[in-house]
Amino acid sequence: MEVLNSKVIKEFCSMANDGWQQGWHERNGGNLSYRMTKEEVEEIAEHLLWDGSFQAIGTSVPKLSGEYFLVTGSGKFFRNVLTKPEDSLCIIQIDEKGENYKILWGLCGGKKPTSELPTHLMNHEVKLVALNGRHRVIYHAHPANIIALTFVLPLKDEVFTRELWEMATECPVVFPDGIGVVPWMVPGGKEIAVATAKLMQQYDAAVWAHHGLFCSGENFDLTFGLMHTIEKAAEILVKVISMTGGKKYQTIAPNQFRALAKDFQVSLPGKFLYEKPKNI
Ligand code: 13P
Ligand code: ZN
Repeated sequence: MEVLNSKVIKEFCSMANDGWQQGWHERNGGNLSYRMTKEEVEEIAEHLLWDGSFQAIGTSVPKLSGEYFLVTGSGKFFRNVLTKPEDSLCIIQIDEKGENYKILWGLCGGKKPTSELPTHLMNHEVKLVALNGRHRVIYHAHPANIIALTFVLPLKDEVFTRELWEMATECPVVFPDGIGVVPWMVPGGKEIAVATAKLMQQYDAAVWAHHGLFCSGENFDLTFGLMHTIEKAAEILVKVISMTGGKKYQTIAPNQFRALAKDFQVSLPGKFLYEKPKNI
């Protein structure tokens, strides 16, 4: 099968375009990666270039040895993914040690995979181990409201999780484990990848202060949906803070979160259900 006829490539491009439509991907902002199944690689194998050379990933992901990923290119615009997929994306294979990658298809302009490849792969690795391979998608975007909040809220997992949960009843059901926060760091390298992957061991989403958001999920719908839910909650919180300076006349209280958790059969960590002084 021709690579561009593959169902998974079509779904990947469609999700990238959805992110562009949301306004989360100015210029080359954001990146997306997907861990392919054996079947998805086999059906297009005859059109892949197997004799390319390996390049350093910039970190070590031994548990991903031999895995294949679909990933956006560095400097590529999400705006163009749907119309120019072979220039915007690539398929890579990880070597036996988990330290190098080889491009098997795509990036016909001769570029590299995303500069955030170390973070994507380290996130894939922790999720592969923690969830026995259930998650396949890692998504990084630059949604404006969640970024705005990193200037006005303390950069603490407990604060971001609780404030976002309060903004929409479905939030604790969609991300019951909460959301992690990485302080400002230089992007594109191993250090930020290590910090993010550490948080991804317990959360499916991690905010990068003054930069954006990383989400992990089983498939394109759930991962996009997680990004969308978090950014929508962030937008509501930005409106609340803009209207009242953050004063809430009423909100969802810890005992109400507990009742919700019971009925929706999710478990909400106690560290997010702390008592707050009234109206803060
Ligand atoms: P890339 O173009 O290298 O994917 O970088 C975009 C980005 O969002 C960096 O954090
Ligand atoms: Zn970014």
